[in-house]
Amino acid sequence: MRIYTYLAFVCLLLLSSCAKQNDSGSKEDQFVNDLMAKMTLQEKIGQMNQRTSQWEMTGPAPDKENTQNLQEEIKNGRVGSMLNVKGAKATYEAQKLAVENSRLGIPMLFAYDVIHGYKTMFPIPLAEASSWDTDMLKLSAQVAAKEASASGLHWVFAPMMDVGRDARWGRVMEGCGEDPYLASIFSVARVRGFQGADLSKDYTVAACAKHFAAYAFSESGRDYNTVDIGTYTLHNIVLPPFKAVAESGVATFMNSFNLINGSPASTNAYLQRDLLKGDWGFDGFVVSDWGSIEEVAYHGGAKDLKQAGELCINAGSDMDMENDAYLPYLEELVNEGKVAESLIDDAVRRILKIKYKLGLFDDPYRYSNIEREKELVYNKENRAAAREVAKRSMVLLKNENQLLPISKNVKSLAVIGPLADSKDIPLGSWRAQAITNSAVSLLEGITNALPKTKINYAKGCDLTIGERNFRVELTYGKNNQSGFSKAIKAAKQSEVVVLAIGEDCFQTGEGRSQTDIRLKGDQMALFNAVYKVNKNIVVVLMNGRPVAIPELAEKAPAILETWFAGSEAGNAIADVLFGDYNPSGKLTMSFPRNVGQCPIYYNHMSTGRSLSSGNVFWSHYTDSPNTPLYPFGYGLSYTKFKYSTPILNKTSIGKAESIELSVNVSNAGNLEGEEVIQVYIQDPAAKYVRPVKELKAYKKVKLAVGEQQTVKFELSKKDLGYYSPDGEFLLESGTFHIFVGTDSQNVQKVSFTVKD
Ligand code: GLC
Repeated sequence: MRIYTYLAFVCLLLLSSCAKQNDSGSKEDQFVNDLMAKMTLQEKIGQMNQRTSQWEMTGPAPDKENTQNLQEEIKNGRVGSMLNVKGAKATYEAQKLAVENSRLGIPMLFAYDVIHGYKTMFPIPLAEASSWDTDMLKLSAQVAAKEASASGLHWVFAPMMDVGRDARWGRVMEGCGEDPYLASIFSVARVRGFQGADLSKDYTVAACAKHFAAYAFSESGRDYNTVDIGTYTLHNIVLPPFKAVAESGVATFMNSFNLINGSPASTNAYLQRDLLKGDWGFDGFVVSDWGSIEEVAYHGGAKDLKQAGELCINAGSDMDMENDAYLPYLEELVNEGKVAESLIDDAVRRILKIKYKLGLFDDPYRYSNIEREKELVYNKENRAAAREVAKRSMVLLKNENQLLPISKNVKSLAVIGPLADSKDIPLGSWRAQAITNSAVSLLEGITNALPKTKINYAKGCDLTIGERNFRVELTYGKNNQSGFSKAIKAAKQSEVVVLAIGEDCFQTGEGRSQTDIRLKGDQMALFNAVYKVNKNIVVVLMNGRPVAIPELAEKAPAILETWFAGSEAGNAIADVLFGDYNPSGKLTMSFPRNVGQCPIYYNHMSTGRSLSSGNVFWSHYTDSPNTPLYPFGYGLSYTKFKYSTPILNKTSIGKAESIELSVNVSNAGNLEGEEVIQVYIQDPAAKYVRPVKELKAYKKVKLAVGEQQTVKFELSKKDLGYYSPDGEFLLESGTFHIFVGTDSQNVQKVSFTVKD
């Protein structure tokens, strides 16, 4: 009898929580509808207007007189949101202007680019993705949300989820790499980290899925360039991460600067209305990217700003970032019958609902709390989290004769290179409120780890000289080997050399495309000079994009990819160099041998001539192999993992069934380690040609020395199917191959059949 009572109780609980849920749902709708009923058309349009503060320009700076009347606009309820206002005090002051002066006192939304941390810098997103650890990505976003929300912010312009294949494009550092499946699950993890389970909590913030869509396909890797891709690539490569986060409840989207099938993304109704707000059921709002409304005219898609605004609101761009396109023209356009007022109502309702969810109507100042800011921002706990994420993001690219890990009993160690003592470059370029020169440098990290070792430091050469920040062009030091002699001396006096080279953090990020992705300046000359006197060189790479390092790959006995590892970079790198952490990262973006191979990615098509035919008439270069220097999914460990032959539980399945793959993985080395077991599929004969490999599952497992685990994967229609060019999800019958292994090339193949 007791069980029935218990069940009844549970049912009651469920019913009441649903009722509450519905109740809170209708409470929200009720509040928003009541508020909108009081609003004039101008006040509604004001909610769709986002302005930047003068504190920081993340786009072309607005002209001066436009900013003088900003305070008046805020007081008149004509600014629904601001970006780049930071700190509890500044946001409090700005919020007071709106709440205490405008007729309805509607609070503003404060947004900021918190891309990999607010003040405590985490590794750049491409680095975090290399951890293949969704818990780490979620943790990073949670800490960023805690710091941002304690500093008066409600909304972050992250995660960026543009699938990137071209290392020439500087913004690959912001994404998850070249695979749509990883970009999907990693972006969902980041959204969950930012938004938590309840946006009304004062330690969560609204996230923003960007850039919608296909921005990373900018031709020749040149930022803001034309994009011209087919809908097959759009549906199978570009859109999956956006669909995943829309379905997981991301609060907002940001559109992108580029064309999609001939029309600027911000005027693309198919993307923003049919797909996003229609098929995918997205109930948040879309903000334009900085100036992307006005740029519709520059693209040649509108005759002027007014017409650009008309096209954008009709296509589903709800909020105007810093373009002043909606405020002056929307009422006119409604009166001219070119824009339906219902579209404005829909946009405003979406915006007000996010403000309601954030609790801003209960207390507009709840995030602007100076005490919380002091307690929660840039504290020890946050920096410890940054170190954890950083060490898991590093990728061991080479380790000949087990040069790594270096023993902590090493008597003398040379630390050389232009990045070795940099406390700024590890912070990355999208650094929000990071304190300049606040990172733990590699030299500091090594010194902390080896108190008894003789450390011989030499910079060797400059990487950049003169001014450097996220807006200015960089100048590189070159043909200046004056520092080489000190570096050579340090190398001669040391058992092992750690050489820190790579990129300045401002070489990647927005507006930082390059036609040459080799190491700049005198860095390779420095490597060769040191290599001549001491072959025991561990190269520590710090970079934001895949770099072309064929000579290093050939000569250096050990290479550790550390990316821009954030506030705790030096300590995290030392954790790996001296074996306190066995590196477990795997590349999520292929490393080209040279820029001529870009774009290069693992999930490419076979082509009709993929095999050499004994003459030149096949798909290849006459001066380079087709394969990357390091493939997608690649990364070594200090230990060795062994795989058994994979086994399938069936030889064929129906379309509604699933198939199970199992494989035994063992640690055959002498150190505990983590392995990322990857599962790829191929449909070798399909109605629309499919890639030679598609990642569909992976598991990261920790194995003690000698331990073996049987790892199982289940694949079903959602994993085996794909999209037709018009977006229909298909699963076709026929043979399928599954590849399982340690990276996209080092795999074992098994096959099965999908029956009709
Ligand atoms: C920039 C970027 C976008 C950023 C926005 C606001 O131009 O494209 O990613 O969130 O403007 O700073």
